Amino acid sequence: MASHEIATGGLTMQEGNKQEASLPGGVDTAEVSIEEFCGALASRDMAGLWSRPPMPAHPIPQTRAHLWRWDTVAPLARQAGRVLEVDEGAAQRRALQFCNPGLRIGTTEALFGAYQYLDPGEKAPAHRHSPAAIRFMMTGSSVYTTVDGDACWMEPGDFVLTPSWAWHDHTNQSDEPAIWLDVIDVVMVATLESIFFEDHPTGMQDVAGFSLSEEKFGHAGLQHSDGAAWPKPYSPLLRYPYAQVDAALEALQKQSDGPSVTLEYKNPVTGGPALPTLTCQMTRIRPGKPTVPRRQTGGQIHTVFRGRGRSVIGGKEFTWGPGDVFVVPSWATVEHEAEETADLFVASDRAALEALHLYRETELPDRQQVTDIFEPATATEPDKAAPAVGRGRREP
Ligand SMILES: [Fe+2]
Repeated sequence: MASHEIATGGLTMQEGNKQEASLPGGVDTAEVSIEEFCGALASRDMAGLWSRPPMPAHPIPQTRAHLWRWDTVAPLARQAGRVLEVDEGAAQRRALQFCNPGLRIGTTEALFGAYQYLDPGEKAPAHRHSPAAIRFMMTGSSVYTTVDGDACWMEPGDFVLTPSWAWHDHTNQSDEPAIWLDVIDVVMVATLESIFFEDHPTGMQDVAGFSLSEEKFGHAGLQHSDGAAWPKPYSPLLRYPYAQVDAALEALQKQSDGPSVTLEYKNPVTGGPALPTLTCQMTRIRPGKPTVPRRQTGGQIHTVFRGRGRSVIGGKEFTWGPGDVFVVPSWATVEHEAEETADLFVASDRAALEALHLYRETELPDRQQVTDIFEPATATEPDKAAPAVGRGRREP
């Protein structure tokens, strides 16, 4: 019987949809169909390449263009402060992840974005992990993230690095809540099965000082004489204050009448990206002038720091305002138009793609036709009846 012969490894395949084949170890031969042959491969944890879909001519991402409204997320973040205690166990970070509806996991194919919430007087304990992350401050003051002993202030618009395997903890020493954006390359690192994680042995790090990296590396055009000896693969400058970015964007716009200007957060020693896997930029858009339609490989997470406007992503229109977060999938055409001067903070895996020689970008000559309008989940008031998560907190 053919089924017996397949099980013993002996196969003879003939013309048409049948082919001649002889497998090592076989003792018998039989005519089998291509379907039976594929079944025989599957039963041996194999597959024929011909049974796979052909490679597409261009990226066809599973990631969907999507948007999360600040008016929806911020109340949930505050509610998380009431229902979840930050501690040294599983709940070390009160981060609300943006889950892309097209993906099993992730905000984009490589990255997770989240809004993290920290109550007044609260601390999130120190740990380190192989995935690299960035922080972009949205609301709050007198908050700092300590990175390998260097306490980095986080005022609204500030950008702070927590590189791969660097110890980091967060402290809110003010009397108001804080919300910031996290972007972490954990989806990519998990796909590569390369995640390592370690809790700090003392809970919180000792603070060696404040703004140490800025004092040493934070002066544009002036490099510390020891800079060339910086041994690590990420920027030695850990904080990029918004005040500097704002001034630089304003100066750039004075010399340009284009619809937008963009700055990238760079490693001041190498001129490369601040982190080896993440490219982070700030784009300032003038009102009333649409940007040139463009597309690039790799998903992008856009966070609206200020301003209002709309973007067309793959023919779908998204309107946005301060605090909204939206995703542009790989190779999706995107163009922006601001109603008022807008600053968009953009994080992507471009740095990783460039290192692998997989990055492509192109501008398109024609504006997109709007064929659909995105309707986000509606804003809701915090659900006072929601069950507590983990170690519940009582209402103040
Ligand atoms: Fe972390």
